Amino acid sequence: MTLNWNTPTPSISVPTTPPSADTADGTGLGRIERGAGRVMVSEKAMINAQADVNQLLPLKYQWAWEKYLAGCNNHWMPTEVAMQADIALWKSPSGLTADERLMVSRNLGFFATSESLVANNIVLAIYRHLTNPECRQYLLRQAFEEAIHTHTFQYICESLGLDEGELFNMYREIPSITDKAAWALQYTQTFADPDFRTGTPTADQSFLRDLIAFYVIFEGMWFYTGFAQILSLGRRNKMIGVAEMYQYILRDESVHLNFGIDVINQIKIENPHLWTPDFQREVRQMFLEACELEIGYSRDTMPNGFLGLNAQQCETYMHFIVNRRCQQLGMAPLFPQPANPFPWMSEIIDLQKEKNFFETRVTDYKTGGSLDWD
Ligand SMILES: [Fe+2]
Ligand SMILES: [Fe+2]
Repeated sequence: MTLNWNTPTPSISVPTTPPSADTADGTGLGRIERGAGRVMVSEKAMINAQADVNQLLPLKYQWAWEKYLAGCNNHWMPTEVAMQADIALWKSPSGLTADERLMVSRNLGFFATSESLVANNIVLAIYRHLTNPECRQYLLRQAFEEAIHTHTFQYICESLGLDEGELFNMYREIPSITDKAAWALQYTQTFADPDFRTGTPTADQSFLRDLIAFYVIFEGMWFYTGFAQILSLGRRNKMIGVAEMYQYILRDESVHLNFGIDVINQIKIENPHLWTPDFQREVRQMFLEACELEIGYSRDTMPNGFLGLNAQQCETYMHFIVNRRCQQLGMAPLFPQPANPFPWMSEIIDLQKEKNFFETRVTDYKTGGSLDWD
C-alpha cells in the first residue's frame, strides 16, 4: 500500500465542556482539581468511589497489590515452550486417536477466542467501574496476561499448522462453544452503553453479575474443565508442550479467579444491600445454567470419551468446582458433594510438589520468577 501524504487530515472536534464532576472522579478522566485534599485510605472504595483513582498509594486493598506482584512474578511467554514433540505427535497418523484429536481441536477453539472475550470484558467493562487504583493496577496486568494467552493459541496454531479460520471461528460455528460465549456476552453487553453508570442498586447488581459471569463462571468454572481435558492428555505424555502452556495458563487463571472472588467479596462487604437473598438465588441460577452449557460442551468435545476422560466425569468435576465457588462466595453448596473425579487437578492447583508434574521445563523455569501455584 502506498502512503498518500496529501490526504487531508480530518478535523478533530475538541469538546468544550469538561466531563461532569460525578464522572470525573470515578473514571480518572475528569478535570484535575487544583488544591484538593490528599486521598485518605478511608475514602477509597471498590465501586462508586469519589477519591482520586490515580493515587495508588496509600494502599487500601493489599490483596489486589499482592495479586499484581504474583502476576508479574509468574511472567512467561508461550514461545519459550518447545513444541517439537507435539508437532510430531499431531502430524503422525497414529499419534492421537480420532476422539483425542477432536477434543484437542475443539478445546483449542474454545480457548482461542475465550481469552479475547475475557480481555474485552476487563478493558471495556470492568476497568471503568472498579474505582480504586490497586484493582486497576491488577486489571492492567491481567489484561496483558490475557494477551499472552491469546498469543499462546496463535503459537499453537502456527506450530501445529492448524486451520486459522477454523480455530478462530469455532466460537461462532460450534453451537456448544457459541452457547457459552453468547451466555457470557449478555452480561457484558450492559456496559456497551456509554451512559451506563454504577451507583444505584440495580446498576451495581448488574456489575456484580458481570463479575460473577466472567471471573467465577467463565474463568473459574469453564476454563477448569478445559484445563482438565488437556492436562489429562499431558499426564499420558501426549501434547506435552500444549499441556505445559496450559499449566502456565492455569497458574495465571487461578490468580484471576481469586482476584475476582476477592473483588466480589469486598464489594459485598462495602455494599451489603446488594447481596440480597433474591440476588443470591439469581447467582445460583447462573451457576446451574453454566453447568448445563458445560455439559453440552463436554458432549461436543468428547462424544465417546477416551482413556481417563469422558463427558460424565467433566460434569461431575463441574459440580465439584461449582460447590467450591459457592463456598468462596459465602453460599451453601449447589450440589450434593461429589467426589472429585480429577484429584490430580487439585494437586496441580494446590501443591508445590506438582511443579514437576510433566517432568518438563516447568521444574526448571526461572525466567520470570517462582512457580508458586497459590
Ligand atoms: Fe486467560
Ligand atoms: Fe483470565
